[in-house]
Amino acid sequence: MPDTYRWGILAPGKIAHKFATGLQFVPEAKLHAIGSRDIDRARDFADQYQAPVWYGSYQELAEDPDIDVIYIATPHSFHMENTLTCLEQGKAVLCEKPLAINSSQVETMIMASKNHQSFLMEALWSRFLPNIIRVRNLIESGAIGAVSHLEADFGFKAPYDPKSRLFNPNLGGGALLDIGIYPLFFATYLFGTPETIESSAKFADTGVDESCSVKLTFSGGKQANLMFTISEFTAVKARITGDNGEIMLPNRWYQPVNVITNAGNDPQEEVIKFVGNGYNYQVHEVHQCLDKGKIESDHWSHRHSLQLMQLMDEIRRQCGISYAVDR
Ligand SMILES: NC(=O)c1ccc[n+]([C@@H]2O[C@H](COP(=O)([O-])OP(=O)(O)OC[C@H]3O[C@@H](n4cnc5c(N)ncnc54)[C@H](OP(=O)(O)O)[C@@H]3O)[C@@H](O)[C@H]2O)c1
Repeated sequence: MPDTYRWGILAPGKIAHKFATGLQFVPEAKLHAIGSRDIDRARDFADQYQAPVWYGSYQELAEDPDIDVIYIATPHSFHMENTLTCLEQGKAVLCEKPLAINSSQVETMIMASKNHQSFLMEALWSRFLPNIIRVRNLIESGAIGAVSHLEADFGFKAPYDPKSRLFNPNLGGGALLDIGIYPLFFATYLFGTPETIESSAKFADTGVDESCSVKLTFSGGKQANLMFTISEFTAVKARITGDNGEIMLPNRWYQPVNVITNAGNDPQEEVIKFVGNGYNYQVHEVHQCLDKGKIESDHWSHRHSLQLMQLMDEIRRQCGISYAVDR
């Protein structure tokens, strides 16, 4: 088992900066190289985060023999292609959410991970945050009694630009794949596989979904009411109710935030101790899996990513959200 894992970052865009910052909080992680379509962008990013190597193509990054694991941060529509390139070179892959555009692409990626015996995990960072795990533990311990309901939203107003990642259908734009994935993940993480799904969407001029609302029901009558939008600011809170109280995650609930439990008339805020900026927790998980020679995480497995994508496929089918790659 190596003392350090050498990381490559493929596509130094906005989220890659946060990821590179998170990586600095993991002593066993070393940022080795950056790959960009533009060598100057790769060099600038490498300088900023003290990576010794940079490349002007993703292929060269994937071929670097001194890299153990590559973090992929391109727009969703390239996740499958970039992942396959890295897996083919025997690299472990942590690929940004959503893992791809649809479940058929996710199946192809899982197959490649198995064929090449190379690790693959979706970078669903919230899954590894202590506040998110704490909420599930509180529910399981009966802290608010029998749980019946989750309400969660995620909304912000993105400036309308038809060419931007969020509004361009060719880049997998739309609210569902970009941010709807968080409340959908949370609902299934807490309550399991939904028994019924009801959804509706509103569309932007480019044809991508700008707002979506989803109602899920689960065994035992549990329900989740979720909404997500890229056209208005919303509270971005999560609230779980049970027959003996409620648990609340405040604004930006999917990030590192405290947990508020109210089992009576006296809300208690639990101060959660976080390390780093939150993106580091998923890196720890990758390292633990690589230490054990695994090709997937037990905590956010291939099956978890596939089931989440199948749920999004169904919401897309109900709402009529489609992309060219589906056809
Ligand atoms: N986990 C999170 O909190 C979080 C937050 C935001 C986004 N994300 C995910 O991360 C991914 C990237 O999002 P982002 O906001 O970082 O996007 P971004 O700022 O637009 O960066 C994407 C990068 O991908 C590369 N790229 C390759 N082909 C491209 C193309 N045709 N058009 C545009 N860029 C292209 C570009 O890098 P080069 O040209 O330099 O190669 C670009 O900088 C998305 O899948 C998103 O869902 C995750």
